[in-house]
Amino acid sequence: MKITKTKQSKIDSIDFNNLSFGKVFTDHMFECDYIDGEWQEPEIRPYQPISFDPSSKIFHYGQAVFEGMKAYKDENDAIWLFRPDQNQERINKSAIRLDMPPFPKELFFEGLTELLKLDSDWIQKTEGSSLYIRPFMIGTEDCVSASPSNRYKFMIICSPVQAYYSGEVRVVFADEYSRSANGGIGFAKAAGNYAGAFYPTSLAIKKGYQQVLWTDASTHEFLEEAGTMNVFFRVNDTLLTAPTSDRILDGITRKSLIQLAKDNNIPIEVRPVRVSEIVQAAKEGTLKEMFGAGTAAVINPIKGFAHQDEEFELPEISNSYASFLKAKMVGIQTNKEEDKHGWRYRVK
Ligand SMILES: Cc1ncc(COP(=O)(O)O)c(C=O)c1O
Repeated sequence: MKITKTKQSKIDSIDFNNLSFGKVFTDHMFECDYIDGEWQEPEIRPYQPISFDPSSKIFHYGQAVFEGMKAYKDENDAIWLFRPDQNQERINKSAIRLDMPPFPKELFFEGLTELLKLDSDWIQKTEGSSLYIRPFMIGTEDCVSASPSNRYKFMIICSPVQAYYSGEVRVVFADEYSRSANGGIGFAKAAGNYAGAFYPTSLAIKKGYQQVLWTDASTHEFLEEAGTMNVFFRVNDTLLTAPTSDRILDGITRKSLIQLAKDNNIPIEVRPVRVSEIVQAAKEGTLKEMFGAGTAAVINPIKGFAHQDEEFELPEISNSYASFLKAKMVGIQTNKEEDKHGWRYRVK
């Protein structure tokens, strides 16, 4: 792999106590091109804009997939990733669904670890800090015909982030728009899934909510996921979450929380969750918690929801599953808790 280091690091100009999510990037980026049916020699070089022909397929047909993961630094300056094998597998599942070539596992790990070693000063140790990592792949052939690209670019860029707090989250249960459908690309981290969600989400924001909680496209009777998070519901003392399908992203936080719930004797049911049972539970006062689960926030409590013309507010709760499970997850991610499932991956 070719490595060109920056002549002048930007790090001294960064105010690490005032970062807005995903706006600041580290000194280097990883890049690898796919030409004539083969991945070429990868390269790490100083972070900088890249240029494309206006006819590049990415601009017209959205052949683009991505991942989101985080690196953490512990008190001894060791650097850790959380289940990176899952992100590596998932970006290739997404790529295959968009008829893109899988990116080789060895190159993924070599590129990722070299980049993190080079930019390790950007990973802060203060509570809640981490480095958000964004691997992505785009179709780069110069041609406006509607067919798969014959050239691709795989990249990894990194952005320092602080503890993620998105304020109080209230959601609208979707009963008109859909994010994904059977046989579609909902399970893939494909750029278009997010673009398609922006307009309905803007409508929800205008009504005073922050996210749409998506339901199944055919009946709108089952609750699926929200924004960039899978969702969990606590009814009485049981946690409920939807099974994954071709409509839902197979979240790494979600699957880890299911395991942690089992490890800690929290009753959990992975099964279709009906809108009607959650509305009923909210009316009866047995809906104790709702939360989203994803890499950015780990767990984000949902304080209320709207369904058709009704609005519901969840009561304040002490001993919440959300805070218990979040503390466990963050403890494992940052090398403070025992990692009995071997989820941590040491970079250096
Ligand atoms: C649509 C969607 N659902 C769920 C998630 C949560 O997945 P993970 O826990 O792997 O970050 C994400 C974020 O990656 C997402 O984009």
